[in-house]
Amino acid sequence: MERLARVIVLLHSPGDDSSQVKSYVSMCQSAILASLRPCLPLIAPSMLKCDFGNLHREVELLDSASADVLHWDVMDGHFVPNLSYGAMVIERVRPRSEAIFDVHLMISNPAQYVAEYVAAGADWITFHIETDTNHAALLDEIRASGCGAGLAINPKTDVARIAPLLKHCDLVLIMSVEPGFGGQKFQPDVLSKVHWLREQVGDKLLISIDGGIGTSTISQAAAAGVDLFVAGSAVFDAPDYVVAMEQLRLLAVQGRTTAEVV
Ligand code: DX5
Ligand code: ZN
Repeated sequence: MERLARVIVLLHSPGDDSSQVKSYVSMCQSAILASLRPCLPLIAPSMLKCDFGNLHREVELLDSASADVLHWDVMDGHFVPNLSYGAMVIERVRPRSEAIFDVHLMISNPAQYVAEYVAAGADWITFHIETDTNHAALLDEIRASGCGAGLAINPKTDVARIAPLLKHCDLVLIMSVEPGFGGQKFQPDVLSKVHWLREQVGDKLLISIDGGIGTSTISQAAAAGVDLFVAGSAVFDAPDYVVAMEQLRLLAVQGRTTAEVV
């Protein structure tokens, strides 16, 4: 975990001039991702499932559970049939956490809002390939702003659509449920996309998975080649976040090891 802590310090050093830090980060986003590699697999609690009435406490508990990445699900009630929260909430939490903020935009017009999430303190910003936007240009804009750029893909969308865009991405988020709600059932079919992607990119970018990840599904996703696991219910419905995170990490490590041995 030491190296990951250094990355976070680099991103959010108190006292540093933030514009300088951000411009440095924009020059070496790929170096940052490379330095994350020894910290993999990572578990990212999905804040959609947290107790919003106690948000500060939840962030503290996640910190105690060594959650190095927090996943923020932004929903607009249009791209998905649900509304969640926006940049204002993320901005208010930013000073209270040193975790990497992984923002997942489930919104129809991401280009219109990306700058707000950069300003709110996002580290990685992911939007959907299913949105009607200039994907390459927006990914480049996210990178130029100093953030990691990600593309998400829904279960029914052909993964080949991502191929021409991979060189613009720092991470790809494979949806293992239809986006919009936490607590849905994992769709194992999407693991073929993970295999395909891993073959295309090697370890050049992070592969993340989102939806229905828990103790009964994480090992198979890890064996398929996932680096980062978004987990909502599996963390927030558990009585003890430390135990839940440890269990998930252990199963993910075991899953990855099994894949290496085979
Ligand atoms: C679904 C969201 C997920 C979701 C995960 O649209 O992107 O992050 O909250 O929740 P679980 O782990 O409960 O499926
Ligand atoms: Zn998500």
